[in-house]
Amino acid sequence: MVEVLADYQLVSNRAAGIIADQIRATPRGVIGLATGGTPVGAYDRLVALHQTQGLDFSNLTTFNLDEYVGLSPDHPQSYHSFMWQHLFSHVNIRASHAHVVSGLAHDFDQACAEWEHRIEASGGIDLQILGIGSNGHIAFNEPGSTLTSRTRVVELAERTVQDNARFFDRPDEVPRTAVTMGIGTILEARRLLLMATGDHKAHAVAVALEGPVTSDVPASALQRHANVHVLLDTAAASQLNSV
Ligand code: F6R
Repeated sequence: MVEVLADYQLVSNRAAGIIADQIRATPRGVIGLATGGTPVGAYDRLVALHQTQGLDFSNLTTFNLDEYVGLSPDHPQSYHSFMWQHLFSHVNIRASHAHVVSGLAHDFDQACAEWEHRIEASGGIDLQILGIGSNGHIAFNEPGSTLTSRTRVVELAERTVQDNARFFDRPDEVPRTAVTMGIGTILEARRLLLMATGDHKAHAVAVALEGPVTSDVPASALQRHANVHVLLDTAAASQLNSV
């Protein structure tokens, strides 16, 4: 299902509403979380729902999609820090239930296998939040990632490094490798919620939703999932043929 709303604020509020409904329906459930600029508004709104309506995170488990390799959890640009800054510090989630893979593992093969096992042991992800890269990536599954890929260390595409440079003081500080859930891992979530806003996402959204399913456009894999909700603003939807 593709839903187009006027602007970022409406997309954020709608996304937060969907996530809040999921938390209320399965308070002991599991949500997959994304970082980046797109979900910040939705996280702000979830914080407001916690503060004003008592939305309860105390029994919830979360798993984040990805983390930069080489950044410690307390590095200001780590995705661990991002999640605590934008969401976890402001709601009543238990720290031991809020999982962000470490970017500093000694043995990443083992850490990735444990991550997959932990998701499985939690009962699997009920709702996975996703953004999309301007090159069509989901999580850090860059073009060329197989549609059955699992959690692993990947090299970031040059375009992703450039897109993410805005979060760092200097371009050469942007890490070039990351740990990411695989496309196969993501497709196992029971529901997917993809958010995209802005005209710089319009091409990626159009090829992902209306082009062929191909590892050249990792987000096209979502066409293989039976329960996907896509939330777009008008700018991000502007190159779709049918909405
Ligand atoms: C981040 C992630 C990435 C972003 C994507 C879009 O956890 O998984 O795939 O969703 O790079 O980033 P923004 O929202 O900054 O445009």
